[in-house]
Amino acid sequence: MTVQAKSRCAGILGLGAYVPPTIRTNADLEQSIDTTDEWIISRTGIRERRIADPDGATSELAFAAGATALLDAEIDALDLDLIMVATCTPDHPGSFPSTASIVQARLGAKNAAAFDLGAVCAGFSYALHVASNLIVSGANNRILVIGAEMLSRIVDWNDRNTAVLFGDGAGAAVVGLVPAGGYLGGILGADGNGGPLLAVPSGGSRSPSDASALCQNGSKIHQNGKEVYKFAVSVMGQAALQAVESVGLTANDIDCFIPHQANIRIIAKAAERMGLPMEKVFVNLDKYGNTSAASIPIALDEAYRSGRLKPNDLVVLVGFGAGLTWGANVIRWTKAVPH
Ligand code: UT7
Repeated sequence: MTVQAKSRCAGILGLGAYVPPTIRTNADLEQSIDTTDEWIISRTGIRERRIADPDGATSELAFAAGATALLDAEIDALDLDLIMVATCTPDHPGSFPSTASIVQARLGAKNAAAFDLGAVCAGFSYALHVASNLIVSGANNRILVIGAEMLSRIVDWNDRNTAVLFGDGAGAAVVGLVPAGGYLGGILGADGNGGPLLAVPSGGSRSPSDASALCQNGSKIHQNGKEVYKFAVSVMGQAALQAVESVGLTANDIDCFIPHQANIRIIAKAAERMGLPMEKVFVNLDKYGNTSAASIPIALDEAYRSGRLKPNDLVVLVGFGAGLTWGANVIRWTKAVPH
């Protein structure tokens, strides 16, 4: 298949991440719920997660990650023309006002439009795809894409099925023009029939939060773990392969695979199905757990800062999550290894 050369190429100009300093270990969770460090590690790969202060908000994590990405890109906030925050835990219900608008004000990015994007754990993949295409189309020149979450606010800490999985954090990328390479392409997908498998039942128009919803923990995460697991294993490899094939490449061309950090068993199975050795897969879920839309940009930032990504590497990102949604991004890496 021939892939047409683009007259404008979008790429990542800078990266940043922020996680709150408070660590909640598996041993801490053993004190409050019927679980063990051994169960959590063997079933998920997670050892600890970060938990935000009770008086903070998602925009604060997003701001910290975004400001670092701007510094890394050596770009002034005034030069941004759009800010997108992928989140399922916005500062305000219904993103009213959007977390992106709050970040815009804090950064002083007064020339930037701002909106939140809702695709839950696939949110960063969705946002990066949209941002890159806006740049390629000429509609925008410099976009700050952030994935930020305070999942600790919507986790039922008494439910061992979900309490062990999630954490807080944010990651950000400045997307702009690069001379060549950069964002080669990607794919987005959804299967709305799977919506009930992973959901926060109350707090929206379907069931506004009232006393009865709160009693039933309706405003917390409810998940059918086994079904989501099956979906995740099949969609992760499939989406990644479809994305690389869409730009005329194959799994053999991948230098670094950065999947949504939900469960090491899902990641290992997907890599196996793709014929990808684990040395090519970036994993940091042991330290942060599942941070939803923040997991991929936090991992991408860590891979970049640790020197794992070299110019010209083929980097593939894959997200999946509630919706159900999924997205994959193929990037010809253009940034130098940081000093
Ligand atoms: O980004 C969002 C996407 N979400 C995901 O990626 C989650 C996908 N699903 C998973 O990662 C896995 O299904 C889980 C990690 C959530 C669960 O692992 P599993 O191997 O599917 O376990 P299970 O739900 O089948 O439970 C096995 C057993 C059950 O006990 P019984 O019925 O066999 O006696 C559970 O009650 O493990 C029990 N269990 C636990 N035991 C100790 C469930 N959670 C815990 C726990 N500690 N935290």
